Amino acid sequence: MMSSSTALTPPAFEPSAQIDLVDALIEQGWYVGHNVINQELCYALHRELHHMAEHDVLDEAGIGRGQHHHLRKDIRGDAIHWLDRESDAQRRYLDAMANLQQALNQALFLGLFEYEAHFAHYPPGAFYQRHLDSFRGRANRVISTVGYLNPHWPSDGGGEMVIYHPDDPSREIARVVPEAGTFACFLSETIPHEVLPTRCPRASIAGWFRRNASLGGVLDPAR
Ligand code: OGA
Ligand code: MN
Repeated sequence: MMSSSTALTPPAFEPSAQIDLVDALIEQGWYVGHNVINQELCYALHRELHHMAEHDVLDEAGIGRGQHHHLRKDIRGDAIHWLDRESDAQRRYLDAMANLQQALNQALFLGLFEYEAHFAHYPPGAFYQRHLDSFRGRANRVISTVGYLNPHWPSDGGGEMVIYHPDDPSREIARVVPEAGTFACFLSETIPHEVLPTRCPRASIAGWFRRNASLGGVLDPAR
């Protein structure tokens, strides 16, 4: 029987979307769904990110990890903040991702062991050039996720995420409008993607399910 608290708190992540997501990952290596993340949760996360952007407490995003991390505004122009369970909204989002991690491990035997995610704020004019989130052989990031937080994205707002064909990176296969509730997910090592220049402030949460790549004494820094 459903408890009253379950009835009052809608799920953060639409349960039927989880099934579609697993099927799509198996069949094509990527998934996009609308109204997947609960709208109230999107608003709460959006407010939080908006507040951080207004108070100038976000970090300029760079490329590369650990010692190889450096700023490249010509490649990506977003500003970020890593989720740290510091608010109820962040906890709800991360709990939903932990749940998804379990479903992915059960269905796909991926051995995903952790999830890292950051808020991303793209000011007008910002973009992120076509890239892969992980490189084969350095298998740390296995599955990428993007949750979009923007209520009422205008049709001429730009800022779409373009997904390209894994075997032909010049072939566009999907274009994702960063509308609140939309959730995208893809294989980090094989799916090239980019963020087109945005005309409006653009809010998202980019995250990665990781496998433990610290084996063999090679330190693999998270983030
Ligand atoms: C990333 C990324 C896509 C998006 O942060 O690696 O590709 O739509 N983000 O925000
Ligand atoms: Mn990416």
